[in-house]
Amino acid sequence: MNIGIVGCGNISGIYLENLTRKFKNVTVAAVADLDEGRARAKAEEYGIPRVMTLEEMLADGGIDLILNITTPLSHYSINKQALLAGKHVYVEKPLALNYAEGKELIELAESKWLYVGCAPDTFLGAGIQTCCEQIKSGAIGRPVAGSAFMMCHGHEGWHPSPDFYYDYGGGPLFDMGPYYVTALVRMLGRAESVFAYGGRASDTRVIGSEPRRGEVIPVKVDTHNAGVIRFANGAIVTLVTSFDVWNHWMPIMQIYGTEGSLNVPDPNNFGGDVKVATQENMDFHDVELVSPYVENSRGIGVSELALALEEGRVNNASGRLGLHVLEIMDGFVRSSAEHREIVLESSPSDPVPLDWSAPIGELRTK
Ligand SMILES: NC(=O)c1ccc[n+]([C@@H]2O[C@H](COP(=O)([O-])OP(=O)(O)OC[C@H]3O[C@@H](n4cnc5c(N)ncnc54)[C@H](O)[C@@H]3O)[C@@H](O)[C@H]2O)c1
Repeated sequence: MNIGIVGCGNISGIYLENLTRKFKNVTVAAVADLDEGRARAKAEEYGIPRVMTLEEMLADGGIDLILNITTPLSHYSINKQALLAGKHVYVEKPLALNYAEGKELIELAESKWLYVGCAPDTFLGAGIQTCCEQIKSGAIGRPVAGSAFMMCHGHEGWHPSPDFYYDYGGGPLFDMGPYYVTALVRMLGRAESVFAYGGRASDTRVIGSEPRRGEVIPVKVDTHNAGVIRFANGAIVTLVTSFDVWNHWMPIMQIYGTEGSLNVPDPNNFGGDVKVATQENMDFHDVELVSPYVENSRGIGVSELALALEEGRVNNASGRLGLHVLEIMDGFVRSSAEHREIVLESSPSDPVPLDWSAPIGELRTK
């Protein structure tokens, strides 16, 4: 599969690294960015043969998939243009700015028999895959509840261009929430409804990183979201995402079952320690990881999409999964605004088991 990457910013390095060196079934054929110099520099660094504009990429018959790693405000429009041009799409999170836009994209893709993939793909890492196995094997009994806390003080201290984190499609919910919500959906299945409140500590932020240190930027979205997700299996999960917290002692994520508790590692990473405590052994103890993907393997979702296309099956980090996650997050925003429970309509695609004994970089379906 020949890939055209649009967006050569902060996150592009790890995608380029993994898609050119780790995963064998894809080729990065071209890169594009509004800032052509940035695209040229990445092409040179990773030996990518062509630098193009987005328009040239869309018109090029040799490009099969557009990997859209631009900032969230551009996701919907580039995804739509790519689908209309007959290209498969894999997009960084979020899929789009709201559920209505996301649904339109998925329906467009399905009407044209095109694949959509959506980040995050960290749930294909060893940490969350091991948690899914633990729950499936009944290690903690029937899941009845959970808690997930993504709380920090935002990204303006390190990201060179942090404006998008405080714009629509950003904030802690749309920026970090996808890691947590995607992991929850993979562990617990479809969500049925949400109820949430949102607020913000400040209407402006001060950039702490170079080259724009000291510049004041507007905050257009809530920076503290507290809500509850009710899953179809009956589990009730508390989720808090915040850029308003300097420090805390809450767990990252835990699932509570009728027979025990599962401590879930940071879903923004691929590896991490998975721990279980049961009635018989109340101390949290380590569980062996089921897969070798413990390093930053961003791009595994793109490689897996290429495999799924070859095998004529649905991909794991699918558009339908991304859409369900988007509906949950959009539900938080709507619930906060309307002070009511939001009942969800979408369903994620089913996970497709992969054979983790295959060599790293060579994915195989089980
Ligand atoms: N930075 C991270 O650590 C990180 C981690 C995981 C995911 N992400 C996600 O990756 C995406 C990009 O984040 P980033 O940190 O790389 O942002 P960034 O601002 O560093 O880079 C974005 C790049 O996209 C380009 N761009 C924007 N609109 C474009 C358009 N219409 N056409 C062509 N190029 C365009 C910009 O010129 C810029 O070079 C976001 O969705 C973000 O949520 C970022």
